[in-house]
Amino acid sequence: MKIAVAGKGGVGKTTVSAWLARELVARGKRVIAIDADPVPSLASALGFADADKIVPIGKMDELISERTGAPVGSMGAMFRLNPTVEDLPDALSQEDQGVRLLVMGTIEQAGTGCVCPQSVFLKALVRHLVLQHDDAIVLDMEAGVEHLGRATAMGVDAMFVVVEPGRRSVGAAKKISKLAKELGVKKVLAVANKLRNDQDRQAVAEALAPEVTLATAVMYDSGLVDSDLAGEAPAAHGAPRPAAIAELAAALVDSLET
Ligand SMILES: Nc1ncnc2c1ncn2[C@@H]1O[C@H](COP(=O)(O)OP(=O)(O)O)[C@@H](O)[C@H]1O
Ligand SMILES: [Mg+2]
Repeated sequence: MKIAVAGKGGVGKTTVSAWLARELVARGKRVIAIDADPVPSLASALGFADADKIVPIGKMDELISERTGAPVGSMGAMFRLNPTVEDLPDALSQEDQGVRLLVMGTIEQAGTGCVCPQSVFLKALVRHLVLQHDDAIVLDMEAGVEHLGRATAMGVDAMFVVVEPGRRSVGAAKKISKLAKELGVKKVLAVANKLRNDQDRQAVAEALAPEVTLATAVMYDSGLVDSDLAGEAPAAHGAPRPAAIAELAAALVDSLET
């Protein structure tokens, strides 16, 4: 089961990814959560100890040059486009109560679209996890989906685009959804988040229609703000999770057995 989570910044991608990862583990899945946002925060949402001390894989220069055969930062140099990565999910992941985590760091170098050892390496790792690895994957993405290569996109079973009540978030969701489908993502659905009431849910559903359908809806929870301010992780092991996310995970397990 390969799940990607996308959406405009701040809508709740990381929170939803972390909840989903916990729910899938609670349902007996082996799960690898991947933080693919250049500004990582999944470890902290999951309540990993020393989350801020985790070194993103994209910063592991020695490993990257060893695997690609090129010093990091060497533009135009010859390097392997198919580095060996099969051992890395085990070697580099951290685990907390069944959720394994990989923090990627920046995949694309500041919009240059450059073919550098670092981005080739990270993309190869994500591709491996999505296309070959047996564990369930939850991929917490940065706002855009452009850097998902076609092959990787085609391996994603479902992409959830998180939307909050608001025009810009809905507009971004439609764009992301269109792009993801063009790339070959099999199923793109929206997860409405931070809803104040049922009217919000309806308004979001109507604004997304007909292009994007709601998979589920999560209410705004002021308790999350309190716990955030108190330094508590929204998706720490044992923290309460929205019923909507539990139901979504159950439906995923039913429909995507593997
Ligand atoms: N349902 C919700 N109710 C209240 N606050 C929420 C909810 N979902 C997310 N948040 C808060 O919104 C902020 C952004 O969430 P985050 O998951 O980091 O978004 P993203 O990864 O899309 O940038 C965080 O402070 C988070 O605690
Ligand atoms: Mg995030």
